[in-house]
Amino acid sequence: MKKPSANVGLLKESIFSEMTMKANQLGAINLSQGFPDFDGPSFIKDYVNEAMEGPYNQYGPPSGAMALRLSLGEMYKKIYGLSYDPNNEITVTNGATEGLFCSFLALLDPGDEVILFEPYYDSYLASIQMVGAKAKPVTLRGPDFGLPIEELEKAFTDKTKLIVLNSPHNPTGKVFSKAELQALSEMIIKHDVFVISDEVYEFLTFDDHKHIPISSLPGMRERTIMISSSGKTFSFTGWKIGWCLASEELTKAIRMVHQFNTFGAAHPLQVAVSKAINKIEDYLVPFRESYQKKREILYEGLKKSELQPFLPEGTFFILCQIPQGKNKTDVEYCFELMESKKVAAIPPSAFYSRSPEEGQKYVRFCFAKKDETLRSAVINLLEAKG
Ligand SMILES: Cc1ncc(COP(=O)(O)O)c(C=O)c1O
Repeated sequence: MKKPSANVGLLKESIFSEMTMKANQLGAINLSQGFPDFDGPSFIKDYVNEAMEGPYNQYGPPSGAMALRLSLGEMYKKIYGLSYDPNNEITVTNGATEGLFCSFLALLDPGDEVILFEPYYDSYLASIQMVGAKAKPVTLRGPDFGLPIEELEKAFTDKTKLIVLNSPHNPTGKVFSKAELQALSEMIIKHDVFVISDEVYEFLTFDDHKHIPISSLPGMRERTIMISSSGKTFSFTGWKIGWCLASEELTKAIRMVHQFNTFGAAHPLQVAVSKAINKIEDYLVPFRESYQKKREILYEGLKKSELQPFLPEGTFFILCQIPQGKNKTDVEYCFELMESKKVAAIPPSAFYSRSPEEGQKYVRFCFAKKDETLRSAVINLLEAKG
């Protein structure tokens, strides 16, 4: 018998569902997978019902509902001063994950090399492997997870086609500074490569930290595929409405893949998200305040535990260092935590391929949870359990 694809044979099963399943079995408070335990706003759900009463229950245009592309064009102009043409430069996808997949397929040939920062969102590596391209991970190291310029410079070869950036960064919570983005973009231009910029946490930044899209830097627009999604911003991760913004040439390539991959995303949901985006400026004020408070509850609680949390600048994750004397890997520690404290977290070594031992030092908690869920988790973490 012939075997399934060798490239697919390289892929690992995602750790997320395993942790959520185990958390449910043990009755543990689930701070592992990155999704809210509360619903998104009801006014946006009303938009879906309205859209389903209108002419939106059949296929929409494969590039995305025009209403949503127009809303996105307006939003990116208003918020960052970026100008993308809804007709030729904006594509709606099934979440950022499909946008990422289409972008990797659109840009890469077998044998190409891709630089990515580890820890990374695990779909990047999977997409690179499915194309038959080669990932070259560069490790971000605590406590500040800053851009490792020298190591990064060494990672470029004449086969490098693209670099993957994720800011605000899952799982470290780092928001790349303007100076870091400038240094990175100089390298990108010098080595003549593309960048896939995953910005799904663009509106989740704290204190004085501001998200800067790398495509806004000089010379970067033509080299960047900017990817984001409605999932985290509107607390509807299950809707899977995402988008890619790129030059006309890159958009043509992305749309080629997208039309034969999913063809299109759920039409009524796209129409609802377009209306939500039209109100985003008012929406973001209480949204950010509520997440600032959630970060505070979990961070202050974790500080009192045996773990050493890093204060996140963005995202809804807190990465913590496991105490050194524990002699436990992240996976062992997470299982112990789930059994003894009834709190589930993610072991981040799954997000590393070059230096998994670096990831074994940490655990990741998600604070996209109700305040009371976070308070209960803190109580559990600070109390001895059976
Ligand atoms: C960095 C990053 N990119 C992309 C995604 C997926 O986004 P979507 O649900 O829109 O596919 C996630 C979800 O956890 C993520 O953390």
